[in-house]
Amino acid sequence: MDIELRHIHKYFGPVHANDDISLTIPSGTIFGLLGENGAGKSTLMKILSGYYHPDAGEILIDGKPVELQFPADAIRHGIGMLHQDPLDFPPLRVLDDFMVGYPKGLTLPRTEARQALRTISEQFGFTLDPDAYVGSLTVGERQQLEIARLLWLGAQVLIFDEPTTGISAQQKENLFAALHRLAKEGKTVIFVTHKLEEVNQLCDRVAVLRAGKLVGEMGPPYDLDGLVRMMFGKVVTKGERMVTPLGKTVLQIKNLALEDARLRIEGVDLEVHEGEVIGLAGMEGSGQRHLLRACAGLERPVEGKIWLDGHDMTGKGYHDFLRRGVAYVPAARLEEALVPTLTLLEHFILAGEQRGLVIDRQAALEHTRERIETFNIRGLPHSTVESLSGGNQQRALLALLRPGLRLILMEHPTRGLDLESAIWVWHNLKRRCREERTAIFFMSSDLEEILHYSDRILVFFSGQVSDPIPATETNIEELGQLIGGRGFEPIAEVQP
Ligand SMILES: Nc1ncnc2c1ncn2[C@@H]1O[C@H](COP(=O)(O)OP(=O)(O)O)[C@@H](O)[C@H]1O
Ligand SMILES: [Mg+2]
Repeated sequence: MDIELRHIHKYFGPVHANDDISLTIPSGTIFGLLGENGAGKSTLMKILSGYYHPDAGEILIDGKPVELQFPADAIRHGIGMLHQDPLDFPPLRVLDDFMVGYPKGLTLPRTEARQALRTISEQFGFTLDPDAYVGSLTVGERQQLEIARLLWLGAQVLIFDEPTTGISAQQKENLFAALHRLAKEGKTVIFVTHKLEEVNQLCDRVAVLRAGKLVGEMGPPYDLDGLVRMMFGKVVTKGERMVTPLGKTVLQIKNLALEDARLRIEGVDLEVHEGEVIGLAGMEGSGQRHLLRACAGLERPVEGKIWLDGHDMTGKGYHDFLRRGVAYVPAARLEEALVPTLTLLEHFILAGEQRGLVIDRQAALEHTRERIETFNIRGLPHSTVESLSGGNQQRALLALLRPGLRLILMEHPTRGLDLESAIWVWHNLKRRCREERTAIFFMSSDLEEILHYSDRILVFFSGQVSDPIPATETNIEELGQLIGGRGFEPIAEVQP
């Protein structure tokens, strides 16, 4: 069964969730639909499965236009969807759930349904006990039940919306085996995901959505960097950054001096504006970290002044800065930022604003699940933070930062991360700049990163700090020379 979507539009108030999407999906394929959270994937699939009505556009099945008012219409046309949040009936037994939606309704003999469930289960290697309660099933088993139900209802096209969220590696393997099996039998599998490696493992073809628009399609062998660019687009490039309008002053530093046993930094003057990104470049240990820490109240200046939103913060401590909306994200994620042996859930509980002494675990669990989903963290609420990959730890750290911060201070935001995670981190940071007017101050030893994401750059050389340099007025070579000391005063003789 070939599916064609033509010029689909869908609005939610001001949000253009699907913007003129045209797509052809041939039968017998595993077709990936890739995109960041909020790209419009679920919306498009809900339109295809009759849960939403498009504001414009049409759907064709085998070349004929169809009107899908309700999910039952879609199922009649052979299209069924497994939702991101499973639509099940926990107080029901597996067999009753299996029978939900069957047109013959109550007149259907249970023995016939039981037999059908057994046949499908055997075919796909599912392990479903017809008499168990649905509420007792694992997420993987609920998916199996939903697949069985849709197949029995005659689905030819099965849509899986982010089905690997919340299942184990073994369940994922079983699921993928079932998907391959479905495609082999001529069914069309539409696989919605934001995970590149799943596209790579599974899909015959992939379409990428970004901000409601179809940005492109690709077949194997996949150019993963190309897919990353399609997913994230120009949101993170330098050109786009120039249009981020700067707001009022967030942070003001006047004639600041900082000192430790081996380094003295002095005469730093700077104003940082809402939405602005300032990159700190320099050899490790040239003073960048001191300045970052001073801006978070983690280090006291020996001279000079610091204001936040007009409030004099000179000499104040970390908690005062925190209260004024400053967050510090250290490079040593597991040593300084996260607490090993504690789970994601426990981190969100600790970071949350608690009213009273009783923790509402259910609410905390829901909040944690929502954060895991929104921040693409590959982990479960009960995963300990040390069990996560570096990229996922960094995502978790960003997820723990409350919205609406005034200033985020970051040491090496993307050190040790894979390309996808690195782009994701900046995507998230830039979104905060744009939408929440947060200013960002970061240090990095990666000059490309500094040049790419900063509005202005400060170069550090042995405690000396350059004037702010607009990122568009410099390049890697020049930064490299500055970092090496060119243009700075010669280093003074080392004092005994
Ligand atoms: N029922 C809804 N009401 C209002 N806005 C919605 C609704 N569903 C989705 N949206 C918005 O539409 C956009 C696309 O969402 P969605 O299709 O869920 O994206 P994805 O599945 O790719 O993460 C988002 O901005 C989202 O907030
Ligand atoms: Mg979705």
